[in-house]
Amino acid sequence: MCGIVGFNGYEQAAPILLEGLTKLEYRGYDSAGLAVRNDANDVELVKAKGRLRALYEKTNGGIAMQGTCGIGHTRWATHGEPNENNAHPHCSDDRNVVAVHNGIIENYKELQAKLLRHDYKFYSQTDTEIAVKLIDYYYKKYKGGPVDAIARAMMRIRGSYALAVLFKDYPNEIYTARKDSPMVIGIAGDETFMASDVPAILKYTRNVYFIGNMEIARLGKGTVEFFNIDRELIEKEPEEITWDAEAAEKGGFEHFMIKEIHEQPKAVRDTINTSVNEDGTIDLSPLGIDEEEIRKYTQIHIVACGSAYHVGMVSQYIIEDLCRIPVRVELASEFRYRNPILDPNGLVIVISQSGETADSLAALREAKSKGIPTLGIVNVIGSSIAREADHVFYTMAGPEIAVATTKAYSAQLICIYLLAIKFAEVRGTIDTEKRDQMIAELRTLPYKIERILEDKERIQWFAAKFSNAKDIFFIGRGIDYGITMEGSLKMKEVSYIHSEAYAAGELKHGTISLVEDGTLVIGSLTQKELYEKTLSNMLECKTRGAYLMGITSYGNYSIEDSADFTVYIPKTDPHFATSLAVIPLQLLGYYLSVTKGLNVDKPRNLAKSVTVE
Ligand code: M6R
Repeated sequence: MCGIVGFNGYEQAAPILLEGLTKLEYRGYDSAGLAVRNDANDVELVKAKGRLRALYEKTNGGIAMQGTCGIGHTRWATHGEPNENNAHPHCSDDRNVVAVHNGIIENYKELQAKLLRHDYKFYSQTDTEIAVKLIDYYYKKYKGGPVDAIARAMMRIRGSYALAVLFKDYPNEIYTARKDSPMVIGIAGDETFMASDVPAILKYTRNVYFIGNMEIARLGKGTVEFFNIDRELIEKEPEEITWDAEAAEKGGFEHFMIKEIHEQPKAVRDTINTSVNEDGTIDLSPLGIDEEEIRKYTQIHIVACGSAYHVGMVSQYIIEDLCRIPVRVELASEFRYRNPILDPNGLVIVISQSGETADSLAALREAKSKGIPTLGIVNVIGSSIAREADHVFYTMAGPEIAVATTKAYSAQLICIYLLAIKFAEVRGTIDTEKRDQMIAELRTLPYKIERILEDKERIQWFAAKFSNAKDIFFIGRGIDYGITMEGSLKMKEVSYIHSEAYAAGELKHGTISLVEDGTLVIGSLTQKELYEKTLSNMLECKTRGAYLMGITSYGNYSIEDSADFTVYIPKTDPHFATSLAVIPLQLLGYYLSVTKGLNVDKPRNLAKSVTVE
């Protein structure tokens, strides 16, 4: 989604802002703009449609814009088409207020009607222009200064937003406010930085402030002050970012996605190490979940979006099997509006890489409002879900830049395995011996993933063969069905090839009519008891002309009699098979995208962090 940056210091702002926006490119955007000013001089605005390169060219890399205080924005269109007119920053007619915005203002029509009655005019189709003019209206009406005007506007605006605002009368200050959209602030000496995400400011500082929901901040040169919605000053301590800037660079790989695919052994190992002691016991005390609570759980709801939802899909098989607790998995966008029946002794697990996904955050709040304990499985430290959940389990994936998630997905799986093993042990559904076996096996996963990655050229070759595919079907049963859902999403999002994941036994209830000569059908067969069944379903497709690819464990060589192409993965505990089987599927999506010459790290229409519903 949109990216915001701000700088207030003594160097020229525009080149710094452009560099910051480059670091936020992964979030997805279709236009960009800057507003920069010098002391009492008029603010200068430059906007451009398309990639950031256009803005670089228009401003000569920022050099053409004079000023040491400014804000920048990459826009991912929601209200109004992606063009220069709708690009941010937007300003009041007299340039009294200039602002950029991330999020969606739901009651923009009502606010616009109010402003029209006060003779405001509108030139864009954006909800942002309405926010800018609302702040301008309150600033002029009540003459209470910037914090007062922003607070009044915040009380009228419904929806989600992060705002960065410049006021004509306050030339050396930037104001920011947020509700449900991220914003981070950092200070380095006499310079202040702000951004929608840490990578944009990490070059300058590791000590950052996370501005809270419904809070306002005033950024001076090397200073920051925070206010609550009642305009009262509030104290905040900076938090230290422990990962380094290189973690957000490509490090010799051609794309972030392939780099992050290769970082999975580390992400898996690091996540295991957060909670597994040397003796193999699992320590969930940093999460604040005690054994008494674990014994009480009567049901678990897993709520998430996209790939995180697919982690939920495999989790239900694992948790129900190991812990014998009923699990329901739901899309966050559905959960939040269906008045779910939640048992007070239940647990709601919200899984989210970014910790900012609007629907997942809303689902978390829905559960909390009903008094149900919540656990966030989150990658981004200090994100909204991490701060609002009762318990947080951090995935140790490091910054994930490619829009298509890979290493965060793998780390989320590890959190689920650890929760399932611990819950099962505490509730007595597995014994210590079984736990030790499972932990020992878990510790082998990073090596097994490395082994699969060593064979990536075979997948690359296969991808070249199918680069013209129009439709691909992924099938599997049980955990394998969950695996294929993720494989299919990877395929769609980066290679733009239509694909569907089907429970293997369900295909013949309609969808098999789409299978014709040469259709690629990919079967995942990691579960011993279901191997024969899925193979039969694959053969039903082959009879109708399908080309079969199979993913199964070493040893299941009988698959060669049926499949046209097979990828073998190392044997593992069946509960952990997803962690291995997903790797070839990620590679397949990646190589198909690269073969087709697509923008694999930033696929069209997608955003890394979906902060609007
Ligand atoms: O940040 P989150 O994990 O909450 O994001 C959820 C989905 O938007 C995300 O998994 C999305 O489906 C990815 N593009 C998949 O690769």
